[in-house]
Amino acid sequence: MKSKGMRIGILTAGGDCPGLNAAIRGVGKSAIVQYGMEVIGICSGFRGLIDREYVTLTENLLSGILTEGGTILRTSREKPFKNDNGTLDKVQTIKENYKELGLDCLICLGGNGTMKTAYQLHKEGLNIIGVPKTIDNDVWGTDVSFGFYSAVNIATEAIDRIHTTANSHKRIMVIEVMGHHAGWLALYSGVSGGGDVILIPEIPYTMESICSVLTKRYDERKPYSIVVVAEGIDTPKPKKSKGHYIAKKIMEYTGLETRETILGYIQRGGSPSPMDRVISTRLGAHAAELAHSGKFGFMTSLRDTDTVAVPLKEVAGKIKTVQKDDPLVKEARLLGTSFGD
Ligand code: F6P
Repeated sequence: MKSKGMRIGILTAGGDCPGLNAAIRGVGKSAIVQYGMEVIGICSGFRGLIDREYVTLTENLLSGILTEGGTILRTSREKPFKNDNGTLDKVQTIKENYKELGLDCLICLGGNGTMKTAYQLHKEGLNIIGVPKTIDNDVWGTDVSFGFYSAVNIATEAIDRIHTTANSHKRIMVIEVMGHHAGWLALYSGVSGGGDVILIPEIPYTMESICSVLTKRYDERKPYSIVVVAEGIDTPKPKKSKGHYIAKKIMEYTGLETRETILGYIQRGGSPSPMDRVISTRLGAHAAELAHSGKFGFMTSLRDTDTVAVPLKEVAGKIKTVQKDDPLVKEARLLGTSFGD
């Protein structure tokens, strides 16, 4: 396909994360400046394609957004293929609007759910390209998704701050981080924040094991301990949160003073880290290049130092989790970090 005169759409779907604006800019500037395309920003994820809410993105509109958090296009968790009564209507409406807007391609920035929808729309005959984003880092087929390193930075800074108050009060501090069903964020922020115990969904824990580590530290006159908990770990249905459950059990089993902090949405907010700005820019530019070459039905991804195209068919419906023998798990264990097993 000849890209001059091409009209491409771009949307951001699912939970927001740092780097979305940098990626919109990466796609948009490359598409406009390099390939002479027209770029349409679809508002609020797939909802905007149903409601026909969109804006034409000019080079000027894309200037100055590299460092901004959130997404200028806004987002939603609209899943047009989800089984509800309106499903067929929604997919039909999306197809009609794609055609009426004169789109030659739709670039979808999102996580696992978005890549699945992207593949389904591709099967429906639309020209789709995916770009992986999420603080959870659980999109299959890419070494890393943008948003992850910013969230690791934020969680690490929080753990650092909690360290000082843990030391002052001689307490056990439990910090719950996001990550959905994957332990990447807990693993990376746990290691970078010097967690004594790191609990991730991929490694089953026992309270006995956690408490023996904490009691040993206490007996060795270590004044405090840090426990980093992924929100996706398995617990009996907790009344408040996973972090609260673990903190309560630690206190019950050890009698040591314990507090919990749930980091929550702070992990998804604010300006992207330098690394995420680079990743978003690269993936965005690569997505525009794929559109230019007419390479549809692919997700742009990072492999070592390269950007490569992975078929959406391979990505859809899978999640990338931490392997029990991940090198970082093994190396953390060498230092005496416990995974509660
Ligand atoms: O996928 C990103 C994420 O922040 C997860 O870590 C978390 O489980 C989920 O989104 C929260 O979703 P919502 O924005 O719908 O509350």
